[in-house]
Amino acid sequence: MNVVMIGSGYVGLVSGACFSEFGANVICVDKDESKINALLNGEIPIYEPGLDDLVSRNVKESRLSFSLDLKEAVAEADLVFIAVGTPTRRGDGHADLKYVYAAAEEIAGYLTGYTVIVDKSTVPVGTAREVCRIIKKANPAAEFDVASNPEFLREGSAIGDFMRPDRVVLGVESERAEALLRELYRPLNLIEAPIHVTNLESAELIKYASNAFLATKISFINEMSQLCEKVGADVHSVAKGMGLDGRIGKKFLHAGPGYGGSCFPKDTLALIRIAQEHGVSSRIVESVVEVNASQKARMVSKIREALGGSESDKVIAVLGLTFKPETDDMRDSPSLAILPAMADKGAIIKAHDPEGVKEARKLLPESIQYMDNIEDAIKGADAIVLMTEWNQYRGLDLDRVKSLMKGNVFVDLRNVYERSMMESHGFIYTCVGR
Ligand code: UDX
Repeated sequence: MNVVMIGSGYVGLVSGACFSEFGANVICVDKDESKINALLNGEIPIYEPGLDDLVSRNVKESRLSFSLDLKEAVAEADLVFIAVGTPTRRGDGHADLKYVYAAAEEIAGYLTGYTVIVDKSTVPVGTAREVCRIIKKANPAAEFDVASNPEFLREGSAIGDFMRPDRVVLGVESERAEALLRELYRPLNLIEAPIHVTNLESAELIKYASNAFLATKISFINEMSQLCEKVGADVHSVAKGMGLDGRIGKKFLHAGPGYGGSCFPKDTLALIRIAQEHGVSSRIVESVVEVNASQKARMVSKIREALGGSESDKVIAVLGLTFKPETDDMRDSPSLAILPAMADKGAIIKAHDPEGVKEARKLLPESIQYMDNIEDAIKGADAIVLMTEWNQYRGLDLDRVKSLMKGNVFVDLRNVYERSMMESHGFIYTCVGR
């Protein structure tokens, strides 16, 4: 089976590599010449555990290749996936679809024989139908179907999520398209991964509703964490007690500095806009977004309070900058809200992150210093702020850390450590909701 993946960004590259691992012949196409050249030279433009091995193995076995030539790739394809970016449009919160529609228009002219065009990008409800209209208009003779196959990949564990999914969602409107997509995903039958087949609009909405629901769980527990702090409850214990109820589930109930990343912030905003356009209110999702913003702001106050009321001229070691561990992605990371607020008030910030520094430099104030190793960040610090729960920060040698610092304030925004242990090592310890 011949598959073309348009867009060699995060989703396109992971999906393309995984489909080739399933046995399909995959060509990943991108307009960015430097990206394609890098991939042809065996360089992976993003950090995702396991992706380099997966790509090199499938390239070596000639099932995966990279190209700038969309025309040639599409002519031979059974399935063409659109996995281009859909960033939030400046000003109005809408997902910007110009790259999706441009791809559709371009594919239209190159189709030969029956082809299924599949939306993989997260797109508003109605986009697949619009893609269909664009292709029909541009090439009335084309023999094709359009399908929607949203991705549910978490950064840092995307390959595992692809290979062992909770479900595969297929929005299709013809038996022929369904059969081709089922054939592509056939290797997952072995592990009995559920394939949920539905119509185009439902598939598109499943993606937004899933992400908004997960974001709701996080904002809910973050709101509870504030109450826990006031009443003397422990948010870990509250989350565990709630999560043991199978109807609630224990996942996605970790209190922290607020959610970030490439999906939750963008998709919650887009869902609100979609609802508005259809005259429907989305009060829950609006609150989720608001609670997330206030959680980030609350972290700034928390750090200030831990420092005795002012961060001015205090040396703060920040451990972790990315929105979560095992990624170099800085998009909408809570650190982008928290660090500038502290720097504005005169904090001297020394930051460390295993993978995110290159991106962080572009997005954070110039005054922030980046340290190559944890000890250099900690040396002489009045306080440590643990921002992202990278493994490197989970097992710190606490006596050594304490001896390197000037002060003894430890603000743990991911609840990695236990208060009693931190206090026994002489830290003034602050965390979230405990
Ligand atoms: C998410 C979805 O999980 C995935 O299915 C979708 O396709 C893309 O968006 P991702 O953004 O990679 O994946 O990361 P995820 O692990 O879901 O975490 C998102 C954010 O929520 C992170 O900032 C994380 O720190 C935060 N989070 C997650 C919490 O604060 N508490 C939790 O309990 C879980």
